[in-house]
Formats: sequence, C-alpha cells, structure tokens
Amino acid sequence: REARAATGSAFNFQEVTAGVDETHHVAEGYDADVLLRWGDKLFADSPEFDPMNQTPESQLKQFGYNNDYVGFIPLDGADDHGLLVVNHEYTNPELMFAGLATVGKDDDGKDKVIIGEMTKDLVDIEMAAHGGTVVEIRKDENGKWTPVLDGKYNRRIHVGTEMELTGPAAGHDRLKTNADATGKKVLGTLNNCAGGVTPWGTYVMAEENFHGYFIGELPADSKEAANYERYGVPAGWYNWGKHHDRFDVSKEPNEPNRFGWVVEVDPMDPNSTPKKRTALGRVKHEGAESIVNKDGRVVMYCGDDERFDYVYKFVTAATYNPDDRAANMDLLDDGTLYVAKFNEDGSVDWMPLVHGENGLTEENGFASQADILIETRRAADLLGATKMDRPEDVQPNPVTGKVYCMLTNNTKRKPGDENAANPRADNAFGHIIEITEPEGDFAATRSTWEILLKCGDPSVADVGASFNPATTENGWFGMPDNCNIDSDGRLWVATDGNSGKETGRTDGVWAIDTDGEARGTSKLFFRVPVGAEMCGPLSTPDLTTFFVAVQHPGDDGLATFEKPATRWPDFKDDMPVRPAVVAITKQGGGKIGV
Ligand code: FEO
Ligand code: CA
Ligand code: CA
Ligand code: CA
Repeated sequence: REARAATGSAFNFQEVTAGVDETHHVAEGYDADVLLRWGDKLFADSPEFDPMNQTPESQLKQFGYNNDYVGFIPLDGADDHGLLVVNHEYTNPELMFAGLATVGKDDDGKDKVIIGEMTKDLVDIEMAAHGGTVVEIRKDENGKWTPVLDGKYNRRIHVGTEMELTGPAAGHDRLKTNADATGKKVLGTLNNCAGGVTPWGTYVMAEENFHGYFIGELPADSKEAANYERYGVPAGWYNWGKHHDRFDVSKEPNEPNRFGWVVEVDPMDPNSTPKKRTALGRVKHEGAESIVNKDGRVVMYCGDDERFDYVYKFVTAATYNPDDRAANMDLLDDGTLYVAKFNEDGSVDWMPLVHGENGLTEENGFASQADILIETRRAADLLGATKMDRPEDVQPNPVTGKVYCMLTNNTKRKPGDENAANPRADNAFGHIIEITEPEGDFAATRSTWEILLKCGDPSVADVGASFNPATTENGWFGMPDNCNIDSDGRLWVATDGNSGKETGRTDGVWAIDTDGEARGTSKLFFRVPVGAEMCGPLSTPDLTTFFVAVQHPGDDGLATFEKPATRWPDFKDDMPVRPAVVAITKQGGGKIGV
C-alpha cells in the first residue's frame, strides 16, 4: 500500500522481467498453477489424454484446444466455487497430431511447416476441440483450484452442438440450408475468441474468424458474392469442407451466413440449446462484454477484428430484472445495434443500424432488418463508421463509467489514411482508446473518447509510443488484444504478437494505470512461454485469483508435434506442448496486485 501511495499507482507488485524462455513467469510472491490443459478430463468418465491415440469421441469429453476467453460464474455467490467457462478458438494440427507435419521449403527456399493429409478422423478431432468448456471448479483447503469432474454443469460445446438462431434474422431465407429448412437450427460454433459473462450469468461466445473454415466456389447465380467478399469467405484455412459438405460453399452456399454471431449459453442447464443472437449483427466478433446501464437496459460492446473494421455497441430494448433470472434470458433478442464514428473533435457518434434509417433501405440492398444483421459490415460502411486498426476486446468499466477499446495493429494503414482515433500509419503495435460515456450513461448515442496509450517500444522514437515515462523497459508492450477490468476498476491487458524469434520477449499480461499522475504506466505481471499468445485475463470478483489462458504455446512458426519450441506445461518427452488455463494466486492469500 505504501508503494501505491508513493507512485500514485493502483497496482502494487514487483514487475516481471521481460524475456523469452520455455516456461511462464509471474510476479514474485505469486503462484501460477496450471488448472486445465488441452486433453484434460472434464467428466468422471472422460478417458485419459493419450496423444498417440486421439479420437473425436475422447476429445468431446476433454478440455479443448487453444483456450481463449475465460469467464468465472460463482455458484451460490461463493468466492471459492464456481463455473469456469472457456472458449477454444482454433486448432493447430501441426502441434496436435503425431507424424502429420514436417519442416520443408517454400517457393523462395525458406523453411516452412508442411502439413500432411487431414483425414476425416483428424478433422473430426479438430471440430471436437473447438467451441467451449463449462466446468465446475473449487478451491481446496490449500487455496488451489481444481476441476470438479462429477460437476453436474460440466459441458463441452463444439462444432456439432445444436444451436438456435434467434432474433430478427432467424428463419430468413439467407440462413436456410439443405440440412435446415427452418433457417433457425445450426450445428456448432467456431473460432470463439473473446467473449463475456452477462449480468444474469450466461456465457457469451463470440464467433470471430469464421471465414477461415470454408472452401469451394460459390455457384455463379449466388446472391452472396458481395457479402462473402466483404467477409473474406471462403478463406480455406481448414479443409473441413472436404469431409463435411456444409463447409464447402459450392455445396451449401448459405452456411457461412450462420456463423459470425454472438452465441449465448445458459451454463446452469447443460442440456440448454445455445442461442445465436442475430440482433447483435454478423461480424468477426472478438468479444462481447456487457453492463447494466443506470436505466436498467443492458449494453454490450463488440469489436470486429479486421483491419479497417468497426466498433459496435448493442443496447437492449427491455431492462434487466435482478430478481428474475428467467426474465432476462432473451434480452439480447431485441434492441438497437450501433456502430461507432470517432470524430476528430473527440466525440463519438453511435449510429443506429436500423432498417429504413440513414439509407439502410431496399434501394441500397437492405430489404429488412435481417439483411442489415447478416451484412452488418456493409450497413456500417454505408453509414460512414470509423475504420479502425483491428478492434479487439471492448470492455466497460463499471467503477468509472469508461470503456476500453483494444486496437491491436494495422500495418496496412497508409500515410495519409490516418484519423484522430487511428493516428499512426503502418501501426505495427496498436493502441488503446478510452471512451467516456456521458454521466455514466452507457446507452448514450454521443460519447467522448481519447487515446489512453499508443503501444510499442518507447525507446525507439519512430514508433511513437506514449507510455507514461514511469514505465520500465519491461513494462511496454505492443498488440493489445484482450482485457480484464477487475472489481476495483483496474485495467489489465493481454497481448498477441510480442513473441517472436528476434524480439527477445513474449506476450503477457500488463497492469495499466488509468488515473492520476500514473495514468499510462504499464507493468508486466505475467509472461507466457515461447511461441504462445496471452488470452483470457480474468480476476475473480474477490480479486484473489487471476486466470490467464496460454494459447498456442510452442508455436514459433516452425514447430511441429515432434519438435515444438517448448513442451510446456508437462515438460515430458512423450507429451506434446499443450495450451492451458493457469490460475494465479498470491502466496499466503490476498488480493492480486494490491
Ligand atoms: Fe482471435 Fe482478434 O484475435
Ligand atoms: Ca488478436
Ligand atoms: Ca475482456
Ligand atoms: Ca487473441
């Protein structure tokens, strides 16, 4: 506390030294314990992880790959017992499967990883490793968290899980397929990046880079050509479409319209059907963090993670009922979606994406609200929203009424294309915007904004970083991605892209002061092993645990199952490198960073 008073900082911990090696590092005086690894059992009858004998059936009962968003939902208000909800964003087959990948040469003679044939079995394991996990966890008498394998809420959500499309676009012809004449029933969710937990305790999974999962050529008479071009469909990152027709747009041209949504899951009912809430629009949703406004309406913020895409917020029509959980379950089906225009004078206009308004009419190709929601990007283009440097997590601060917007980078922004909210051309390191909602009214349609931080190495003048000079050489970072606002209203940022062969540092979690003299000071709290990206930063409401998700560890660009850049976290020759969620606690107990 004395240290906090002396520096004006809201944080008190000894900073980690930036660097890169085979393992993770946390601030002195803290423990960082691996809680759940890819392949770990989630049910009493789950098979043991056997990397040489993987099957789709076993993966469906085990923790999935590439953990991203992490949420915690207390059970009965407990601090030491609750549901952990975790997204599994994507798969790295070259690191998952034995004998599949080798290092060869590309056309320019440079080393590259060559992936062998993805059989149907391997594809089905990948599909089972995507989605999300709901698992009961409990703190034992030693203050360590463990999964409760016979927990009645435990669930795996995956690419085969039946889901329902709800809201204004549900049932539209553009959402119908050969398998689903209703346009309301979809199998699965994928590329779930960040997310959120709603005030009524549901788990929200954002569908991000869905375009990567489709192959094939659209039929010549398809009306979706412009739509798919705007979203980059099909990108062919995965060959699922070779084994499952619905991921081949030549065979199932409407299937891509059924992804890119915000998915809401009721974790208290493991048999519930997850809902794809079309009212929030269809984009490459990074996250979906929400807050109850002072008038009772709920406001959800979302970034669309692509260069030159937009920041959104959704305001529900009805109000939150704190006394009746069931009354809130369909709040996300009815409301107004807004896209942000960041003006040069420091104001933001939140422009409604509503049919019949502002040119969103039949003449411009929007016959109904459903068309606006299916082609949200094109609607936002028409309104002249501000083209941003890859909006990632956007999160409201309930303590201060501010909203933090992570903009990860945009090296394609050309000199002359800058705007006040995206002030750097060739923006390699990203920045963070702080929005102030007037008088704490998160539903406001006119707000103000300023830049909290321009990221990158402050010792390189050309980078133009703007950290507070109190920031040490360990404390600067680039590529902000996910963030956590803790119950004291403090900002923690996780990064994606600092790890690399030449950087001498990795991704991690940085604590950032937002107030007073210390504003803009950043300190390194946790860093990942080589090749990993940092996801999921989340503190429990009592601030005694900080969960982080270590994603794609060992992935240094040339890594394979046989030769990962590290064998974190098991460090056994017969175990592959494994993404995992880590629980950080203070030795002897107490609040994190206080
Ligand atoms: Fe999944 Fe926007 O990174
Ligand atoms: Ca990212
Ligand atoms: Ca977040
Ligand atoms: Ca990420």
